[in-house]
Amino acid sequence: MNKVIIQKEQDLQSLAKKLLPKLKHQNLLCLYGDLGSGKTTFVRYLCDELQVANKVKSPSYVICNTYHAKDYDIYHLDFYRLEGQDPYTAVDLQELLSAPSSIVIIEWADLVEDYLPKERLELHFKNLGGTRRQLTINN
Ligand SMILES: Nc1ncnc2c1ncn2[C@@H]1O[C@H](COP(=O)(O)OP(=O)(O)OP(=O)(O)O)[C@@H](O)[C@H]1O
Ligand SMILES: [Mg+2]
Repeated sequence: MNKVIIQKEQDLQSLAKKLLPKLKHQNLLCLYGDLGSGKTTFVRYLCDELQVANKVKSPSYVICNTYHAKDYDIYHLDFYRLEGQDPYTAVDLQELLSAPSSIVIIEWADLVEDYLPKERLELHFKNLGGTRRQLTINN
């Protein structure tokens, strides 16, 4: 476990750089934290590092957004609206995880915890007020 306090959004860039090699190795990243704590914003920084050309938008209404990077397909999921239902009603998680060169990133992973593999990276966001955030990384 690794705890970091960041002062502003831009500080997510160095964190994204640090996390990326781990994510390429372990292709599942679960994101936790309240509404507006910064999950989607972090995915934007990660995708910048991966040189994704598409604009990263919140997948909360569509459940899954797919972005293409040079060597990776990124599946950006948000299970908030599933309200704890089986995520397989929306996507075949196993298929996404086993697709070649896939990176799967899940917002609101806590709502579907029982359905998720234990082998993963976790990033927990806590809003400390203003632009300050506490981030806890588990891997
Ligand atoms: N240090 C920071 N890190 C991340 N976001 C920040 C930071 N400071 C300010 N923000 C702002 O906070 C908001 C975070 O919103 P974001 O959509 O990323 O949250 P979220 O966790 O994905 O929420 P949701 O649960 O609704 O999907 C953005 O408007 C972002 O610009
Ligand atoms: Mg979001």
